[in-house]
Amino acid sequence: MCPPTVAVRDQEHPLTAAEADSVLALAADAERHDGSAPLSEQFRLSARSRDHDGARHLLATDDAGAIIGYAQWRVGAAGEPPSAELVVAPTRRRQGVGRALLVALPRDARVWSHGSGASAASASAFAAALGLEPVRRLHVMGRSLRSGPPWPAPELPAGYAVRTFERGRDEDAWLALNAAAFAHHPEQGSLRRADLDQRMAEPWFDPAGLILVVEADDPDRLAASHWTKVDPPVQDGGQVGEVYVVAVSPDRQGQGLGRTVTVLGLDHLRSLGLHEVVLYVDEENVAAVRTYTALGFTDVEVHQQFARP
Ligand SMILES: CC(C)(COP(=O)(O)OP(=O)(O)OC[C@H]1O[C@@H](n2cnc3c(N)ncnc32)[C@H](O)[C@@H]1OP(=O)(O)O)[C@@H](O)C(=O)NCCC(=O)NCCS
Repeated sequence: MCPPTVAVRDQEHPLTAAEADSVLALAADAERHDGSAPLSEQFRLSARSRDHDGARHLLATDDAGAIIGYAQWRVGAAGEPPSAELVVAPTRRRQGVGRALLVALPRDARVWSHGSGASAASASAFAAALGLEPVRRLHVMGRSLRSGPPWPAPELPAGYAVRTFERGRDEDAWLALNAAAFAHHPEQGSLRRADLDQRMAEPWFDPAGLILVVEADDPDRLAASHWTKVDPPVQDGGQVGEVYVVAVSPDRQGQGLGRTVTVLGLDHLRSLGLHEVVLYVDEENVAAVRTYTALGFTDVEVHQQFARP
């Protein structure tokens, strides 16, 4: 079996619309086959993005030019190593495609495995065969919105008010809050206006699900926020909500706002009639894991990131 050709797509040579369609179709095939999506939201959005957003793409093609594997990487937030995702077409596995993509990534790239069960086991075997070690663990936690331990009523400290996001009013303030709250987070902290606009253009975006805790005497100043996400939306049969992004301004932390704003979001998701709620949290984020555990969340699965030692 000949090694595949690996082509680079970047700012000078962006992915064409047809290539982006093939990549997303390949990822959808892999998701059906593996039972888990190989590319996370940001990577899927970047594949489709018509403006260069810092992502680099690697396309593995066969002799006929068909795309049989794909990798994407981006430089991390300040000082962080590049973050990558890679996927091989289910019918083209164990033929060296994954290996060819991996060696074309920067040496210090960290590669995500979002699978569970057999898919996670094969990603771990692949990583081990290529000399990678697990370096980061992301927990997917969940709970029922209809049963299980009740969560407490929201307690808003004095001086704050609650409202929801308004387009055209809150974008810049929300981005500033997000950047401050996630200054040390490898991915979330680097979200820019174009990334926010992309998400607001998605069919699932609902400003009523982006809850803001603001200063009571200055409602344009954001102290905390909880962006909830329902994808697919309820009207399309969605039953699972997500605690998408919880952010508390660093100068407002330690007052219980994280817990309050999380609870406000859970109340909102329950009011939509959803069954379950999930969230993603870094294992190292001990404060967040503790907050969610206290609110009745338990581990559903664990995603891992691998890197060369
Ligand atoms: C993991 C994945 C990228 C591997 O791609 P691939 O093209 O099949 O991998 P390669 O053929 O280049 O395999 C290289 C080596 O990895 C190991 N390997 C790969 N898949 C394996 C599996 N399912 N079980 C055991 N070892 C495996 C083998 O040692 C293999 O060499 P071999 O085929 O000579 O035994 C592919 O299964 C995939 O797309 N999975 C879903 C997405 C994913 O999990 N991505 C995260 C990767 S960290």
